[in-house]
Amino acid sequence: DTSTILFDPSILQKQSKITKEFIWPQNDRTNSLEVLQAPLIDLQGFFLNHEPSILASAELISSACRSHGFFQVINHGVDPSLSRQALDFLDHFFTLPLPLKLRHRRNPGSMWGYAGAHSDRFSSNLPWKETFSFGFHDTSLSHPVVTDFFTSTLGHEFKQIGLVYQKYCEEMKKLSLTIMELLAISLGVERMHFREFFEDSNSIMRCNYYPPCQEPELALGTGPHCDPTSLTILQQDNVGGLQVFSDEKWKSVPPVPDALVINIGDTFMALSNGKYKSCLHRALVNRQRTRKSLAFFLCPREDRVVRPPPGMVVDGMRKYPDFTWAELKEFTQKHYRADMNTLQIFS
Ligand code: SIN
Ligand code: FE2
Repeated sequence: DTSTILFDPSILQKQSKITKEFIWPQNDRTNSLEVLQAPLIDLQGFFLNHEPSILASAELISSACRSHGFFQVINHGVDPSLSRQALDFLDHFFTLPLPLKLRHRRNPGSMWGYAGAHSDRFSSNLPWKETFSFGFHDTSLSHPVVTDFFTSTLGHEFKQIGLVYQKYCEEMKKLSLTIMELLAISLGVERMHFREFFEDSNSIMRCNYYPPCQEPELALGTGPHCDPTSLTILQQDNVGGLQVFSDEKWKSVPPVPDALVINIGDTFMALSNGKYKSCLHRALVNRQRTRKSLAFFLCPREDRVVRPPPGMVVDGMRKYPDFTWAELKEFTQKHYRADMNTLQIFS
């Protein structure tokens, strides 16, 4: 099939021009030299239960989330050597021969497996990247789903690597629940209110691998989209390429060593009754270097009704109707729009 032929990075990169399937419309390729104001939140005060620094962090988070939904965390408690290993180990998988990777190809509608130039959401505008995705369930600590997935698909020699991603997912889940507490504080909601939607839920881990591109100004690594999930924790390497659409401009989020990028997804936007934004973002590619990133997507329990807390609804004014994560997931797959948040057309 065509995408198999299209995306063999080792062949593609030997050509001087990229094929037309990877060329995005001019409109999606506009750029600016601006940097997004995504504040660095130091979580140390939160872990020490230091009230003044918790309130200061909540203030910064509130302002960032009301304007564009992106901030960064440092001193987040995730071991930097674990994070580095999780990024480094991507090479072990993505440098495997293409036919081997294709054996673990992600089926349409599934969140497990490998994809390269897949067109399930992006049709003709193919993203210049390869991804490897898998699910994570946190009640499975006695049954490590991620480690098992690595060894059952890739063989026993991937056990060590599977253990690293298992641990990394566990840390991401823990951190995302911590951030849910901070988001609640920042919205003036009972501290544990949002956490409860995510306990015992399935999360998604996506590994992104962006090879160098000979015509980076024509292509996009990841096209413009909003995350339909609730919260994303992104670890980007030091190459740079993440951009957010804010004030009608594409602005960069330059890498900060050991910081993790947090962004609000559609489901949390709905939980906050539209107060916190889930914004369009994308990833650029470059001519020289492979870029790697790891995205952990926190999702609520499938059947849990997503509805803002009563205190956030003034005069019965709801920005979005009730929905479950299962319903929104299905809707987003069918109605993806590159120019806006799908929640705007969801009713
Ligand atoms: C994404 O938002 O899907 C990817 C972002 C990145 O790789 O920086
Ligand atoms: Fe995203």
